[in-house]
Amino acid sequence: MRILGIETSCDETAAAVVEDGRSVLSNVIASQIRVHSRYRGVVPEIASRCHIEFILPVVAQALEGAGLGEEGEGIDAVAVTRGPGLVGALLVGVETAKTLAWRWQKPLIPVHHSLGHLYSPFCELVAGQSRVLDIAPEDAGEGTPEWRGELRPAAPSESSADPAPGPRRHASRATRRSFGYPYLGLVISGGHSSLVRLDGPGKVRTLGSTLDDAPGEAYDKVAKCLNLPYPGGPEIDSRAARGNPTAFDLPRPVLHARGYDFSFSGLKTAVIRLIEVLGGTERVLGDELLVCDLCASFQAAVIDVLLHKAERALRDEGLERLAIVGGVACNKGLRAQAARRMSRTHLVFPPPILCTDNAAMIAAVAHHIEPLSPDEAMRLDARAGWRLD
Ligand code: KG4
Ligand code: ZN
Repeated sequence: MRILGIETSCDETAAAVVEDGRSVLSNVIASQIRVHSRYRGVVPEIASRCHIEFILPVVAQALEGAGLGEEGEGIDAVAVTRGPGLVGALLVGVETAKTLAWRWQKPLIPVHHSLGHLYSPFCELVAGQSRVLDIAPEDAGEGTPEWRGELRPAAPSESSADPAPGPRRHASRATRRSFGYPYLGLVISGGHSSLVRLDGPGKVRTLGSTLDDAPGEAYDKVAKCLNLPYPGGPEIDSRAARGNPTAFDLPRPVLHARGYDFSFSGLKTAVIRLIEVLGGTERVLGDELLVCDLCASFQAAVIDVLLHKAERALRDEGLERLAIVGGVACNKGLRAQAARRMSRTHLVFPPPILCTDNAAMIAAVAHHIEPLSPDEAMRLDARAGWRLD
């Protein structure tokens, strides 16, 4: 069974074809990072406009990459992210998917974005199928939409095993292949963070989630204070590798609180205060080593909270498997620390290209979701806020 997946919940316009819930036949991602970076964050209206311009070429590329025709021949169903996310952005994907399903007379499957992330470890990528288009700011202007810029194959570091040091068994394809239910999922991205128990594809129970900012949001906001480009996660990650994680003693919010909820907004505020105490942004920015120490100390606090909660949930739930997914799971420091701290856990991280937003995870998990009836499909709406369970 081949499913075309469509994902437009935030700032990636993505489409993919996945066979039998695992084999990724094509995976195309048009990233708007360059468009939003001048604003140091995602501008919802611009994101929607970019999705409108790029969704059809991205779908066409995904079909072509999978060796399929433009009229849906060989596709058995269309899946789409229904939410949560930016409502204007989601609507572009939902309306496109509804239209294609109607035109091709195929079933439509609505997917929860976080469920897609949680299922991403099961996606099997073959090197060379993932294609990335970095949308340039001039491509997102008004006028006739144009498919500008070269689609590039994803770099090996994006689409292959864990680039971080640490035991290879945490990264290898074989490790991911032998992964299965039940497992604990830690979803950490720009919009979400939750700890979830999964006993089967549709059997999920949320144990905890963020009380305020998601970790990726905290990364992006701290990076903005340090005048670093958007998205802040990779920028802080690379500087953290050159800094001292114990240089500053930053708070670990709700570390010892009962339950599994997270909170990152206090940590972000503590960094902002620290920058003031150190003499303000100008002064801090003049000292590269100081910036690296700040990044390393912030990252150490984030990692500590995430892994501490995950370790406790594994123990309390009697689970032996952990999947860390979502954009922040690209973090090299987190990958290395998790591998060190959790040597007895069957730990998996998807390759980075499947951690950040993509449609392969949406098409893959859709294999296990009941399609809508044709009437329901025509009435499908986007859900900006949508609880996982
Ligand atoms: O999953 P994703 O692509 O989108 C959402 O669903 O939100 O995650 C994007 C987030 C951004 O906040 C970005 O800063 C963060 O993932 N991110 C990272 C890294 N790479 C991306 N955070 C920490 N370290 C990284 N290496
Ligand atoms: Zn996401």
